[in-house]
Amino acid sequence: MVLWFSAANRDPEVFEAPHEFRIDRTPNEHLTFGWGIHFCLGAHLARAEIRTFFGEVLRRGIRFEVMGEPTRVQHNIFRGWTQLPVRVGKA
Ligand code: HEM
Repeated sequence: MVLWFSAANRDPEVFEAPHEFRIDRTPNEHLTFGWGIHFCLGAHLARAEIRTFFGEVLRRGIRFEVMGEPTRVQHNIFRGWTQLPVRVGKA
């Protein structure tokens, strides 16, 4: 038996089209920062950092262009990429 953490935010009973990235998804009851008494202590900081990062990307007109095939992390807890070649330029 395997506990597949990374499947939590893709539960089709909770999320419509769970494999689509929808930035305006509402409601969005995701479990990215955990749940209950061990809910992530740094969630507010992480959200502030992410908001600042994307705000600056938009403000400076920075554009990321995917230049090759991404390589996924093979892990049952984390989703992510070991490689994602991008070109960073101006929009
Ligand atoms: C995008 C960034 C982050 C994600 C996705 C994330 C995710 C999580 C998750 C899922 C948990 C719960 C783990 C569990 O239930 O066993 C957690 C706990 C925790 N996180 Fe984060 N985290 C992030 C950023 C941060 C930052 C920036 C800090 C501190 C500055 C932080 C500090 C903590 C701490 C101290 C806990 C343990 C809370 C407890 O057990 O009561 N995290 N995080």
